[in-house]
Amino acid sequence: MTWFSVLFLFVLSIASTFSARILGIVSTTSYSHQSAYLPLWKELSLRGHQVTILTTDPLRDPTLTNLTEIDCSFSYKTKHRKLNLNELAEVSSTQMIERIISAGYDILEEQLQHSMVQNLLKNETEHFDVVLVEAMYTGGAAFAERFNCPLIQMLSLDAFHCQYHDMGNPSHPVLNPEVMLPFVGKLNFFQRLISVGFSFVMRYYIGLVADSQDVLVKKYFGNDYPHLRETLSKTSMWFVNTNPIFHSVRPLLPNIIQFGGGTHLKAPKPLPKDLQNLLDRATNGIIYFSLGSNVKSKFLSQERLAILMETFAELPYTILWKFEREDLPGKSENVIISKWFPQQDIFRHPNVKLFITQGGLQSIEEAMYNYIPMIGMPFIADQKHNVNILVHKGMGLSLDFATMDKAALKETILEILNNPKYRYKVRELAELVKDQPMTGLERAVWWTEYVIRHKGAEHLRSPAKDLPLYQYFLLDVIGFCLVVILVAIYILIKSISLIGRLLNGILVKTKSKIE
Ligand SMILES: *[C@@H]1O[C@H](CO)[C@@H](O)[C@H](O)[C@H]1NC(C)=O
Ligand SMILES: *[C@@H]1O[C@H](CO)[C@@H](O)[C@H](O)[C@H]1NC(C)=O
Repeated sequence: MTWFSVLFLFVLSIASTFSARILGIVSTTSYSHQSAYLPLWKELSLRGHQVTILTTDPLRDPTLTNLTEIDCSFSYKTKHRKLNLNELAEVSSTQMIERIISAGYDILEEQLQHSMVQNLLKNETEHFDVVLVEAMYTGGAAFAERFNCPLIQMLSLDAFHCQYHDMGNPSHPVLNPEVMLPFVGKLNFFQRLISVGFSFVMRYYIGLVADSQDVLVKKYFGNDYPHLRETLSKTSMWFVNTNPIFHSVRPLLPNIIQFGGGTHLKAPKPLPKDLQNLLDRATNGIIYFSLGSNVKSKFLSQERLAILMETFAELPYTILWKFEREDLPGKSENVIISKWFPQQDIFRHPNVKLFITQGGLQSIEEAMYNYIPMIGMPFIADQKHNVNILVHKGMGLSLDFATMDKAALKETILEILNNPKYRYKVRELAELVKDQPMTGLERAVWWTEYVIRHKGAEHLRSPAKDLPLYQYFLLDVIGFCLVVILVAIYILIKSISLIGRLLNGILVKTKSKIE
């Protein structure tokens, strides 16, 4: 029995007994983000809830009659106008941050102008029982104020330290470096220093985003709305797309739910006939090469393309290359390009032996669940972190795309294909991720309904949220103890010198008496 059928039985056996109104706001223009939540929206609607979501990648599934999608796919145009990822790699970090925040502002503003969103804002009789918002561009959290209902924040990756801290959840920058940092495993002193510093930078950044998005809250919801930072501080629950096997082990409060571990995986579908034939025939092995949905292969330089093509030409394997162009002049016979491949179903084919990836979390999970070792070529965001985890855990190797040469690429590919240790390791870790009492999706569904049932999760609120920082870090207690110890040492030294002087006095007197 696959875990899909287990999930299906689970859903059947615990048919929900109530129907709630659920609003999900994910304004981020990135399929890899959206795809982490799509199964949740679908599942909640199948359980009889009325689910309304704002998304840039609607499912458009007419059988999901309880799911209303506010289609904001137009936001991709705004994103491409404001943010060119390949161009972004060239600008300074501060410019990059400004651009990302400003793009997030424009994107949310256009989405708030959507007639269906305007309807939600203006319709007096409209109500929702819970609002889920992605913690990237958080302006949508104001809907929780609008409908006076609990708020759940979620991320398609791990949360940042400041977000954990704001929930009162301990989070240690050395034990768990931010996902935007490449550090994995045991950190050296400078890495620890950078990790601590960077967590403050992230707090500053997340604060800037909230301030920028708050301008939209005031403009579209009303001037009487509390500051977005205040709205976010009332978050009932957090969903993070992590699991303790791939990500590091860390302490979690009961209101921080890990919904990671293949949540976005779809049920298997048969491959198109020609593709199936092609894969069946490639008994030598298949390498699947994709740089994901954010880094488009067409932006790669001629020189980089030549290295890829020449290397692939020398390999006795079939290469499936997800490439956003009609043709690729000079490619060898064994290379098949397409703008789109059914990636998850390709990974299920036993002839696929290697996945070359930019290191997106969702792609890594898809390969992992099908026991396929990987070569990571990270570009942006959390990719470097993910790829380093991959290498650290022994599931594959990494290459620097900008500097690698033909020899290095070929050698790395052959190492993975000829050394079975990577394949064994992937299988071992995948089995561990799958071995849990309920899937990440089931957990997210259960806890969403929990928040609805109890109108929030105030009772799970961490006491750390009400503690001033100096008390949390025991500064007053440590300070008091230091003072006591210093006073004691002072008294001791004074007493010793007093006793010394007394003794000296007695000695001098005795001496003079003797003389
Ligand atoms: C829609 O929700 C109702 C209950 O509100 C439920 O009976 C029905 O099965 C749901 N339909 C689908 C397609 O999920
Ligand atoms: C307002 O919301 C209610 C409840 O969802 C709905 O029944 C009604 O059709 C909405 N009105 C408009 C004008 O959209």
